[in-house]
Amino acid sequence: MEKQGKRCLRRVVLVPAPFQGHINPMLQLGSILHSNGFSITVFHAQYNSPDPSNHPDFSFIPLPDSSSDHNILAGELIAFALELNAKCKARFPECLADEVMRQQGSDINGIACIIYDEFMYFSEETAKDLNLPSVILRTASASSFLTRTALINLKAEGHIPFPESRSQDPVPELYPLRFKDLPFSVFGKLDTFLQLISKGSKIETSSAIIYNTIDCLENSSLAKIQQQCQVPIFPIGPMHRIALASSSSLLEEDTNCLAWLDKQSCKSVIYVSLGSVVFMDVKELVEMAWGLANSKQPFLWVVRPGSIRGAKWIELLPEGFKEDIGERGYIVKWAPQKEVLAHSAVGGFLSHCGWNSTLESISEGIPMICKPCSGDQSANARYVSHVWRVGLELESELERGEIERVVRRLMVDEEGKEMQKRGKILKEKFELCIREGGSSNNFLKQLIDMIMSF
Ligand code: UDX
Repeated sequence: MEKQGKRCLRRVVLVPAPFQGHINPMLQLGSILHSNGFSITVFHAQYNSPDPSNHPDFSFIPLPDSSSDHNILAGELIAFALELNAKCKARFPECLADEVMRQQGSDINGIACIIYDEFMYFSEETAKDLNLPSVILRTASASSFLTRTALINLKAEGHIPFPESRSQDPVPELYPLRFKDLPFSVFGKLDTFLQLISKGSKIETSSAIIYNTIDCLENSSLAKIQQQCQVPIFPIGPMHRIALASSSSLLEEDTNCLAWLDKQSCKSVIYVSLGSVVFMDVKELVEMAWGLANSKQPFLWVVRPGSIRGAKWIELLPEGFKEDIGERGYIVKWAPQKEVLAHSAVGGFLSHCGWNSTLESISEGIPMICKPCSGDQSANARYVSHVWRVGLELESELERGEIERVVRRLMVDEEGKEMQKRGKILKEKFELCIREGGSSNNFLKQLIDMIMSF
């Protein structure tokens, strides 16, 4: 790789999907590859564009998507993603060809490959047309990928939608998942969602699939997927633990909560966050507020601005709530979540079970209360509570009495302590996986060899 006496870098082009839960793992992957000697160019949508100042070593190029935002405003994120693919399919080739030209004659020894989020599937065709290898990044768990295939098949066989009486029935061959754990989305109609996941699941000419997961966590699901596809699979997670620490938050992190955490006793705080896209109504906000207050546990609660329908932020919190909690509760718009989960004061996480949050929690040995809302979150919640047994699932509607009880079960009762012990063992397993000789470390080396061979 020497050119005119200088070390010649190879460039990897990344195409993340424009959502926080997808941007984070893609940029973490970029950091991992960068620290292994690759140059990184990120082609990103104009919606939710990442802040380049957080990654000064990367080049950022906006995609010429010019997507209208009516789907986003209407909460139709699935329709938005389909539209984005259609628009980029027409215009990405020219944009990327320009970049290829620009690279010629530079110190960079050409583009090695394009790594694209599975929901930015237009990239595969462009890569093929330009004779560039491509690799898929799937940011959700391997087990939840299998639920998508199951949903597509069950729909084709006429079992979807299913009657309420079937909601607890097991999904064939996917124990312990039930029909209610299938990945229905609240961000679009079923047919639109099926269209997106079918397109996102296809592998035409891509050379490999990267998963942000860990072999010891999802061994049997990964083996099933490997049986179904011809290309190698690289489970190289948890990527946030391997990448050099840097934030790719789209919202500003309120770091003052760390000073508040410093004042709390060890493992006493329940951290509450429903991620980057979930919405609540005011009734649920009020029930959550009283449930947390009545549990008498200290809590750190993320309420994303605009995430409560009909409210700007927390102005509709019930009267008397703030006086009741005093210093016991702390509410932020957005938290430095990884630092929060790593803080010694945090002893539990009430989460929607997005895959990043799930991995971040397990990596710190923090047991969870699972309140899934959409898509892959139900399968993640089921695995957390029934396979890895490091969490409790809150299956009812958000109701103050239920919240109070489940918080106390996790934070105070013996069953919570048992989960903490299992969480500690899982955390140690994660650490072994990313060390020299561990499975994620080995898969990462294989991935790098493959990219170097392109
Ligand atoms: C979405 C889907 O909801 C999820 O099911 C899918 O697996 C990924 O995309 P999202 O709601 O963004 O996920 O949740 P999650 O996957 O957990 O990602 C959220 C990210 O935002 C995490 O990396 C988390 O650390 C970060 N975050 C969240 C913060 O940095 N601060 C916060 O206050 C809340």
